[in-house]
Amino acid sequence: MKAIAYKKFGTADVLETIEQPKPFIQPDQVLVRVKAFSINPLDWKIRKGEMTLMSGSKFPKHTGTDFAGIVEDLGASVSGFQSGDEVFGVVKNLMKEGASAEYVAVPASLVWKKPSGISFAEAASIPVVGTAAIIALQKMGTINSQTRILVNGATGGFGMFLLQLLKQHVGHVTAVTSAKGAEHAKKWGANTVIDYTKENVLAKQTTYDIVIDLSGKMGYKNARQIMRSKALFLNPTPKPVEMLTSFFRNFFTGKKHVVILSSPSNKYTDLLLHALKNGLQVQVSKVFPFAQFKEAYQYAERGGYIGKVVVETN
Ligand SMILES: NC(=O)c1ccc[n+]([C@@H]2O[C@H](COP(=O)([O-])OP(=O)(O)OC[C@H]3O[C@@H](n4cnc5c(N)ncnc54)[C@H](OP(=O)(O)O)[C@@H]3O)[C@@H](O)[C@H]2O)c1
Repeated sequence: MKAIAYKKFGTADVLETIEQPKPFIQPDQVLVRVKAFSINPLDWKIRKGEMTLMSGSKFPKHTGTDFAGIVEDLGASVSGFQSGDEVFGVVKNLMKEGASAEYVAVPASLVWKKPSGISFAEAASIPVVGTAAIIALQKMGTINSQTRILVNGATGGFGMFLLQLLKQHVGHVTAVTSAKGAEHAKKWGANTVIDYTKENVLAKQTTYDIVIDLSGKMGYKNARQIMRSKALFLNPTPKPVEMLTSFFRNFFTGKKHVVILSSPSNKYTDLLLHALKNGLQVQVSKVFPFAQFKEAYQYAERGGYIGKVVVETN
């Protein structure tokens, strides 16, 4: 089978297709013929060597976490699935495995039946960012009509889910996005939209109870100036040292810094599937064919798209 891999850290240019045997399934695994996989910023952070503490430096490395496809084979202890089922899921070790391949073997606990009303591309867009959005919402705690929430970087994959989940709650949501994303941010439930290319949210007088930075460019230190005295800063892009320091610092400061780590599981996927039934939309900005995988990664990395970028296999 074909898989995308790289043998040194670098730009999308280091990506190449390699031929390797179809994965062998363990008793608890399903073999899925991948129809689509989505691109996450984590893919290029690992590929650029920014996360070697977790990813290690052994090559070749594979890439990609979320996928959707068709079950081709089942391990002996797997129940609840059969060959031909349309599914979506994640690879188990996102630092060392890759969903960007023609086949993946994954534990059945990390695969879910794809709702018939959504495409493979849409399904492959859900697990990592959808789960992260649910976790973010849960960390926000009680939201009342007075709660002011700032979503900085609101119209990528994570923001798309978070804005729509927040729409089910009272509270005032300000979305920071480029002009291109304003319309979607409003459609997904933002009460106010700030164009970051025209206005600096840090320079405005408005303060918030919750700030979540999905751009990775604000940081807790900067955010403090727009946080109310007992406000919460949610950080899905922590530096390794922040994971430790934020925990201890939170004992001594009213302005809390909380790290978010997505870990897709049945619990979160059930909530996402329920939200999909109730109208949650998955926006796929662009779908690339497998042969154009490099262009897909370059396009995603440039930014300026709404929702997700997906690659389809044959
Ligand atoms: N910890 C976890 O488990 C976890 C899980 C999922 C994602 N993440 C991280 O969360 C972040 C968001 O994920 P994503 O998939 O939504 O990424 P994404 O699709 O790349 O979205 C990033 C968003 O930030 C916006 N942006 C860029 N520069 C900005 C600026 N200066 N000010 C405000 N907004 C700006 C982008 O808008 P334009 O493209 O229009 O510039 C885009 O809407 C990523 O860093 C990702 O790695 C972490």
